[in-house]
Amino acid sequence: MTNLETDQLKRGEFLRSLGMGSAALMAFYCMGTGLTACSSKSDDPTPSTTTPSAGVTGNADASAGTVSFTVDLTNSNYAKLKTTGQYAIVGSLIIAKVKSGSVVALSKTCTHQGTEVQYRSTQDDMYCPNHGSEFSPTGAVEVGPATKALTQYKTSLSADGNTLTVTA
Ligand code: FES
Repeated sequence: MTNLETDQLKRGEFLRSLGMGSAALMAFYCMGTGLTACSSKSDDPTPSTTTPSAGVTGNADASAGTVSFTVDLTNSNYAKLKTTGQYAIVGSLIIAKVKSGSVVALSKTCTHQGTEVQYRSTQDDMYCPNHGSEFSPTGAVEVGPATKALTQYKTSLSADGNTLTVTA
């Protein structure tokens, strides 16, 4: 083997080892990224943009006792409730600013088989996407198969319009 061949061999080995080293480094980098992403997800106590309790004070869960709470309408989660046609789910309730301009609060649970209802601004009703039941803004059944009204809660707005109080 000449010196030139020896040099070429060494260079080849060097490049191969460098290639493997890069691959290994990439693998470690990816693993590190994955682990970081995993840990940041599992450690994050507020992963979604709508944290149920943020902006809400009191009990908004009918199964946990008498419903009585306030919603901070300056909170980014609920500021949309100042706009007609918008709605939000708060605990076990659906709150909507309906066509008439008033803010209504109803049980979010369809009385047919329990699916969460939605507010449809065009129809100005609460709609169950499961079997198509429709309820008026006051909770009355307009279209079945549901036969029982949604529970309606009392709502009142503060003078400045920034705080919504909901009670049973
Ligand atoms: S669950 Fe709502 S219509 Fe059936």
